[in-house]
Amino acid sequence: MFLGLFNACRKEDSPPEIRPSQTNNNGAPTPYSLQLPAHFNLLPPPNIPDDNPLTVEGVELGKKLYYEKKLSQGGPFEGRACASCHLQSKSFYSNSPFSMEVIPHFNLAWSNQFLWEGKIRGSLEDVMLFEVNDFFEADLSAIREDAKYQQLYANAFTDDSINSKNTAYALAQFFRTMISANSRYDNYLKMLWGGNVEGAKLSNQEMRGMEIYLNEGKGDCFHCHGGLDNPLLTNNAYVNNGLDQFPDSGLAKYTKRAEDLGKFKTPSLRNLLFTAPFMHDGRFVTLEEVVDFYADEVVLNSPNIDGNMLKVRRLNRQERSDLVAFLKAMTDSSYTQNPAFMP
Ligand code: HEC
Ligand code: HEC
Repeated sequence: MFLGLFNACRKEDSPPEIRPSQTNNNGAPTPYSLQLPAHFNLLPPPNIPDDNPLTVEGVELGKKLYYEKKLSQGGPFEGRACASCHLQSKSFYSNSPFSMEVIPHFNLAWSNQFLWEGKIRGSLEDVMLFEVNDFFEADLSAIREDAKYQQLYANAFTDDSINSKNTAYALAQFFRTMISANSRYDNYLKMLWGGNVEGAKLSNQEMRGMEIYLNEGKGDCFHCHGGLDNPLLTNNAYVNNGLDQFPDSGLAKYTKRAEDLGKFKTPSLRNLLFTAPFMHDGRFVTLEEVVDFYADEVVLNSPNIDGNMLKVRRLNRQERSDLVAFLKAMTDSSYTQNPAFMP
């Protein structure tokens, strides 16, 4: 069944594209059809709420707002844009000024819970409303007075008002188009699922790393970070991977439930070459340190530790470097250079 879905889509090699459809709606915003990379058809379709369909004008406005320093006017991040902390050259990551690491942005159309501690549960619209109202405490008056924005909001939304809802909705539309799917491992997956991809070979070392990643008796990483049918490289769940005996509160900070203590968002393993240091608090500087943690340092009596962590991962030195080589093959550099996401 998956293969059938896959064959329906033909764009094997090119970067993900979002193309305007041909319909002209007499002044109403122009529908966009999200062109998914072939192997993303293995996933359930992205969540797009009925009241915020993707449109060319909405995506364009969302991108402008993402790079707009006036959006933070009057708030704690005065003078900064979203893109001041989320840099495209680093897969929309940057070194964090906080105790919490910045989370890079890609493939969030498939998420329904956000932030390391899971503070926002819901759609991209919900997390964008949080970013605009609560994080930026945005004062939209400068944007309201700007004739360029008056036009852009009017083009994007039928109720052309410049309010936080439309601002958040436009940002959510832009985020749905931010798809990263062109690492060498992606090419391998595209080929595996029936495509014909030039240069899709992983090296012998990377192939050995992949076997360790997928082997329950070795690395066993795929239960949380996704197997061959999950190009997101995360299960999008909140779990405790056993970092500490006395963990940070994590998801329990918001749910106030003892069984959520120490659970954090499973991060995607995509684009790790851009996003060091690692873990929610940035405790590991290199991928070698991360792999050594999984092999040697997991705290088995950490509260609420996930069942998939309750085993010793015996990895020799060669296996550790093979696994690191495989993780690096999950890097999609084309994403950091895609003009569709540039200001
Ligand atoms: C001052 C730096 C900074 C700015 C400016 C900033 N962010 Fe972030 N962003 C962060 C940090 C740090 C995190 C992780 C925080 C956490 O998880 O609690 C984050 C996380 C996120 C996430 C969660 C992603 C996920 O996978 O769960 C989203 C979405 C997001 N930011 C969007 C935005 C948007 C939209 C803007 C502009 C309105 C913005 N950010 C501006 C630092 C920033
Ligand atoms: C039980 C689920 C689970 C398993 C199994 C698992 N991880 Fe993780 N992984 C997580 C969670 C959760 C985090 C974030 C933890 C935190 O920051 O508190 C994480 C973080 C990471 C990070 C840091 C990413 C970043 O952006 O900070 C890397 C790299 C990583 N894991 C690789 C692996 C590898 C390699 C394996 C197999 C050896 C593996 N993981 C197995 C759940 C898991």
